[in-house]
Amino acid sequence: MRLISLALLGLSTASQAQTVTVSSPDGQLTVSINDDHALVQYQVSLAEQLIIAPSNLGMTFKRQAPFADGFKITNVNQSSHDSTWQQPWGEQQNIRDQHNALTLMLQSDDKKQGRYSVTFKVFNDGIGFRYEVPEQKGFDHSEITDELTEFAIADANQSTAWWIPARGWNRYEYVYNTTPLMQAAHVHTPFTFKTKNNVHVSIHEAALIDYAAMTLNQRRPGTFKADLTPWSDGIKVKKQGGFTTPWRTIQVAKQATGLLNSHLILNLNEPNKLGDVTWVNPGKYVGIWWGMHINENTWGSGDKHGATTKNTIEYMDFAAQYGFDGVLVEGWNIGWDGDWFFNGDVFKFDQAYPDFDIKAISEHGKKVGVKLIGHHETSGNVTNYRKQMPAAFELYNEAGVEQIKTGYVADGGNIKRVDEQGIVRKEWHDGQFMVNEYLYNVALAAKHKLSINTHEPIKDTGLRRTYPNWLAREGARGQEFNAWGTPPNPPEHAPMLAFTRMLAGPMDFTPGIFDMSFNGLGDKTNRPQTTLAKQLALYVVLYSPIQMAADLPKNYLAKPDAFQFIQDVPTDWQQSIALGGEVGDFVVFARKAKATERYNGDDWFLGAVSDEQAREVTVKLDFLDANRRYEAQIYRDGADAEWKQNPYDLVIEKRIVTAKESLILSLATSGGTAIRFKAL
Ligand code: NOJ
Ligand code: CA
Repeated sequence: MRLISLALLGLSTASQAQTVTVSSPDGQLTVSINDDHALVQYQVSLAEQLIIAPSNLGMTFKRQAPFADGFKITNVNQSSHDSTWQQPWGEQQNIRDQHNALTLMLQSDDKKQGRYSVTFKVFNDGIGFRYEVPEQKGFDHSEITDELTEFAIADANQSTAWWIPARGWNRYEYVYNTTPLMQAAHVHTPFTFKTKNNVHVSIHEAALIDYAAMTLNQRRPGTFKADLTPWSDGIKVKKQGGFTTPWRTIQVAKQATGLLNSHLILNLNEPNKLGDVTWVNPGKYVGIWWGMHINENTWGSGDKHGATTKNTIEYMDFAAQYGFDGVLVEGWNIGWDGDWFFNGDVFKFDQAYPDFDIKAISEHGKKVGVKLIGHHETSGNVTNYRKQMPAAFELYNEAGVEQIKTGYVADGGNIKRVDEQGIVRKEWHDGQFMVNEYLYNVALAAKHKLSINTHEPIKDTGLRRTYPNWLAREGARGQEFNAWGTPPNPPEHAPMLAFTRMLAGPMDFTPGIFDMSFNGLGDKTNRPQTTLAKQLALYVVLYSPIQMAADLPKNYLAKPDAFQFIQDVPTDWQQSIALGGEVGDFVVFARKAKATERYNGDDWFLGAVSDEQAREVTVKLDFLDANRRYEAQIYRDGADAEWKQNPYDLVIEKRIVTAKESLILSLATSGGTAIRFKAL
């Protein structure tokens, strides 16, 4: 790192005030930090356009004096970085980390208030900044009462935002709102908006470790303030000694797809801490799952119990025949009887119901080459789970399980923990306590060579880079809402997720419902509001290294031609490109398969989905390798397809194509297109 004197950086020195700037490698994005105000402030511009107007930095503590008024820049470190790193699995194998960085040391005039620094990293696709509070006298124990970070949106009056509410009972599982930015009150991140000039911006965070999640509160019109989710005692964050905060991130793109092609969040996470992770396996799975959601089966014991030895063995045989890697089984363990929402105290994670012979099942799995996928539903009692975790992991190790889906179903603010004094405390899913609890689960699982798929999770902030066994998570409305109808996900949900939730990382959405009419097609409130082609396209559009074929086997066997696409589509990619889209309207992705035992690394796949509007989208095939021919196996909405009355009108056709051509995709209302480009 080079130490640059303030004079060399061209600092303005009027009345000791200083402004320092740092730009992205391509020179388009610029951050300037200035200590001319009561609080130190930063601002961000793209070319000549101000994106984030001067915005406060700082934090306050219970015991120490605040990092607020009167702090000045005392030193500046600047550096540049350009390297490429590799993901063990992912949407993209090689990722370039190219940025310019600036660290500012800050201290109060009277030198009595402690010191801290802020580091900015500026990439071509956005910026990240974080605070560091070094070890120093008086900071052995800190309790943060507020983070003063602001995001003052320069074009607030004319911006449109897409958001879900923060601190609600349903965690992250809300239908997205589209409103003038001024109407977004208290929101979760990723928080996406666009300015009148069509610049697309998303505010989020990276590497959320041992800290509270940041939500955004519009306190003054156009100015969003960091609102950290508190502990049950009201403190936001508790720290011992020196610490760094998560990165506050601002992705900026000249068009909507720029946000999707950004790797900013991953680039701001630490490299893999687990060493050899060849035991972490992406893949596809089926499961004893949807049957419970549509009331054909029960989680609890009895006549309709889904998790029986017999059913599991049948699912394993189905999985083996059609090339799936695993079978998820929910409701296998003691504790589901009655209303399981309230069963957090009684779940046993190492005891099966008598009709579930885990030994016989794992032996059968070994024979047919399919893994049992584990399931731990906590119903929000994390102390009960924590106590049993070692035994539960051992049991799964013995059964040859490689992946566990965890669940934290409980209202927001209602996670139950029993503290050191035996007192019950209620926490938020996204407070510091739970941020640590989720990671504890993932880190202990890693010691057992187990991978985790978290439902009712803490939002993703790119930790899969550091802990590659954290494969996926939920953290938005998934397919399950289409079974419950409370209400179902609207047609715009998938093209909305792509530009919001999915910017954080992989989602276990569980696509692939083939029978939309379990309640009759006329039931608009209790069915997937999509066409069949769109269900296929979701496998390419909504990235996850593990993808479920969520419907019942009999529904796949009833539509074998469409089912072929699910069998063919991989879940691990060499490269991904967002080719087109607008937030909440439509989106088109192309992804190149990674060469593995099962998949040819030369094939490309494409997924396109639309909202309630039918539309035509032209895509250039110039992403294909220039000198090859491909058989395009196209699964598209038929001429009469529309999601309400005619969702099954699917045309499957084959064409020979090259990189020189374009395809016109005709998407029905809530329709889609899925294509495999088979290299010839
Ligand atoms: C909610 C999860 O999202 C769902 O997939 C699961 O079936 C239930 N909890 C039960 O654990
Ligand atoms: Ca859920």
